[in-house]
Amino acid sequence: MSEYDLIVIGGGPGGYVAAIRAAQLGLKTACVEGRGALGGTCLNVGCIPSKALLTSSAKYAELSHLGAHGIAVESVSLDVSGMIARKEKIVDDLTKGIGFLFKKNNIDLIEGWASIPEAGRVSVSGDNACELTTKNILIATGSEPTPLPGVEIDEVDIVSSTGALDMQDVPEHLVVIGAGVIGLELGQVWARLGAKVTVVEYLDRILPGIDGDIAKLAQRALTKRGLKFQLGRAVKSVETTDAGLTLTMERVGKDKIETLEADKVLVAIGRRPVTKGLGLDALGVAVNGRGFIEVDGSFQTSVAGVYAIGDCVPGPMLAHKAEEDGVACVEMLTGLSAHVDYNLVPGVVYTDPEVASVGQTEEALKEAGTDYISGKFAFMANSRARSSGETDGAVKVLARPDGTLLGAHICGAHGGDLIAELVLAMVKGATVSEIAATCHAHPSMAEAVKEACLDALQRAVHA
Ligand code: NAI
Repeated sequence: MSEYDLIVIGGGPGGYVAAIRAAQLGLKTACVEGRGALGGTCLNVGCIPSKALLTSSAKYAELSHLGAHGIAVESVSLDVSGMIARKEKIVDDLTKGIGFLFKKNNIDLIEGWASIPEAGRVSVSGDNACELTTKNILIATGSEPTPLPGVEIDEVDIVSSTGALDMQDVPEHLVVIGAGVIGLELGQVWARLGAKVTVVEYLDRILPGIDGDIAKLAQRALTKRGLKFQLGRAVKSVETTDAGLTLTMERVGKDKIETLEADKVLVAIGRRPVTKGLGLDALGVAVNGRGFIEVDGSFQTSVAGVYAIGDCVPGPMLAHKAEEDGVACVEMLTGLSAHVDYNLVPGVVYTDPEVASVGQTEEALKEAGTDYISGKFAFMANSRARSSGETDGAVKVLARPDGTLLGAHICGAHGGDLIAELVLAMVKGATVSEIAATCHAHPSMAEAVKEACLDALQRAVHA
């Protein structure tokens, strides 16, 4: 007899949400987690601590720009340790909250590192070493920062996102390698707190994967807020010298080497799946060329009874996608029908301005030869944005000639919230005409969504 119906390996947003949903559906469930805290990367060293620091740093930066509102601030001082302590308290409270949810749902938390000697069996190492039997296993082991050859991360001077969330002083010059989501969010935190921040990027644009027009608007706005960009540069190495750190970079496509001095370097060139130590090879679980576990439509791996979800399987590497995977996986396990459409998973970059997107980019539509119409509306022409002084950016919508939405992209304040309307519209197969015919409150940033849809119909009112 199996002890469990389901053992989930990994207590991140994918794993813990799957465990709770499984328990709700009546499965006897355990979750094995080796980190010593639930919540995974997202809660411990990712989404949540970075948002805590983004908020704190935004408040600090705002104080120096209140003159335009007729407010003079005499003196402001910064307590970086206080900011970091606040972040840690938030993380601590939230991770404990998941422990509480586990108890409430009768989920056994087993602390230790898991491996899978065979389907139906999980070995846990560490202080609580044990052997468990189960009908099903769900791998939700997430991802870790991709290392950059020639650059050794020590989490003190050369940091990954983990170290960048824990610096106790503001660096003089922080060089960020990679103009992706992590590089821009954490680069902006330290720029707001007073660091000179240079972002070095291999490509000739920032935010790969985001609609090109919107990425350009974001780059312009971030430059205005103090970030410096050096695009088309491949970082080859970082050396420690008496004076600090020296980066050696190659100009992409031009046989030219440049150097750049820094006192801290953040490496943010992507993330890779974590699967080592699970024993997947011996078990016969198929993994693709990039290390992601291959799964079928019900998240089952090549081994019956072993499932995988979240960052360790192909698809967007996002906490909310992992949650959707986890819920769909256990629902299907209990005979319900479920499906996750990765084209409808929104992505948000929590910089100022925010960058938010869902569906296809204009580049992807062109490449696929899809017929489309597009509409765009700049926040500069939105009265709420003017009142609050948040006029950077625009809303862009892409639709089939019959108006059905194919993609939506926003660069602007509150973009991460505004995108929700467009995600729902896409889920329901709505058209730009239907959004344009929907009453939007005035004055609101959301009116820019309506106006972008009107623009796609060549009927924009305020442009
Ligand atoms: P990313 O894939 O978003 O960006 C990495 C960038 O580094 C790319 O632009 C790439 O061209 C560049 N790069 C690679 N090698 C380089 C080199 N040698 N020199 C210079 N540039 C180089 O990766 P990032 O920012 O590390 O994020 C990892 C994952 O975490 C992403 O999948 C992201 O979706 C997720 N994440 C999501 C967040 C959110 O939803 N708000 C927040 C943080 C992370």
